[in-house]
Amino acid sequence: MEGNTGNQSVKEVAVVTGGNRGIGLEICRQLASNGVTVILTARDEKRGAEAVSILGTLGLSNVLFHQLDVSDPSSAVRLADFIKEKFGKLDILVNNAAIAGTTSEIGNPETFRQEVAGMELKERVDRIRKHMTEPYKQAEECLRTNYHGTKAVTKALLPLLRFSSHGRIVNISSRYGLLRFFRGEELKQELSNIDNLSEERLDELSELFLKDFKDGQVERRGWPTEGGFIAYKVSKALMNAYSRILAKEHPSLCINCVHPGFVQTDMSFQVGDLTVEEGARGALMMALAPKGGMTGGFLNRTEVAPFV
Ligand SMILES: NC(=O)c1ccc[n+]([C@@H]2O[C@H](COP(=O)([O-])OP(=O)(O)OC[C@H]3O[C@@H](n4cnc5c(N)ncnc54)[C@H](OP(=O)(O)O)[C@@H]3O)[C@@H](O)[C@H]2O)c1
Repeated sequence: MEGNTGNQSVKEVAVVTGGNRGIGLEICRQLASNGVTVILTARDEKRGAEAVSILGTLGLSNVLFHQLDVSDPSSAVRLADFIKEKFGKLDILVNNAAIAGTTSEIGNPETFRQEVAGMELKERVDRIRKHMTEPYKQAEECLRTNYHGTKAVTKALLPLLRFSSHGRIVNISSRYGLLRFFRGEELKQELSNIDNLSEERLDELSELFLKDFKDGQVERRGWPTEGGFIAYKVSKALMNAYSRILAKEHPSLCINCVHPGFVQTDMSFQVGDLTVEEGARGALMMALAPKGGMTGGFLNRTEVAPFV
């Protein structure tokens, strides 16, 4: 993976958020294996450094660490300064970091794995739900991380992506962010109609959701209540809409969302169907797609799919 800038042959540079474990770590591994210089970021310095050293033991010396807490905009600015100084540009941004917005009483994942062994996917997800609650504090943190955090990191790094001859943003989304989960037709319509949406309106919707959540009004307004993970679904739907707005505003970049599938990570209490390698496949497809490819789109694993 090399690009030409004048006479210099310059390696491609990627940032992955939440790169210390799960799908993020695997995306780092696969990008680095493809010759990309990877800036693995994590909110915790120790966990990040450990992840870089794990990749080092696999022979991947082209991975470096930088601290990034996506919910702290100042840390995104520090990351941008670092990249500007060291590389002068960024080719690939993978917005992967996210939280589920829930609390769970599942203490030992191994015991839980045994509890759900042999169950169908829906049953396993229902069992996760049975063990969890969705307090306001977690809902607020979920919006701050998954939606506002993705935006803050993107904004800080956009100027550097524009210095690349082929800038790409891959937003790791979820099937749960699809608009089919919204009960209210009005909200669904508003979020589908990208030509009339603005980032300011998305911020307003984020505030409105949290107010409704606090006031016990989520059902009445038509937020996606069925099946739980309410704040998570809203956060990913807002992130998807932001991704589409951004793709329209920056036609020279490729900006897409990817649902990785139900993957064996801590977020799924390790009971997903897919290995992290399988889950990272769509993200890698988009991250390494040649210039002129899809933008403003959604991948369900590796297949193009609608946002509804
Ligand atoms: N697993 C699935 O089945 C599934 C399905 C659909 C979508 N996804 C999406 O796939 C992505 C990766 O999920 P995963 O399953 O790999 O989750 P995971 O194992 O829980 O890992 C989440 C990663 O995000 C990081 N993170 C959380 N908050 C952060 C913050 N404020 N700043 C920086 N990093 C932060 C975590 O860091 P710490 O280690 O410091 O907590 C961790 O590295 C997410 O966007 C998720 O929504 C996953």
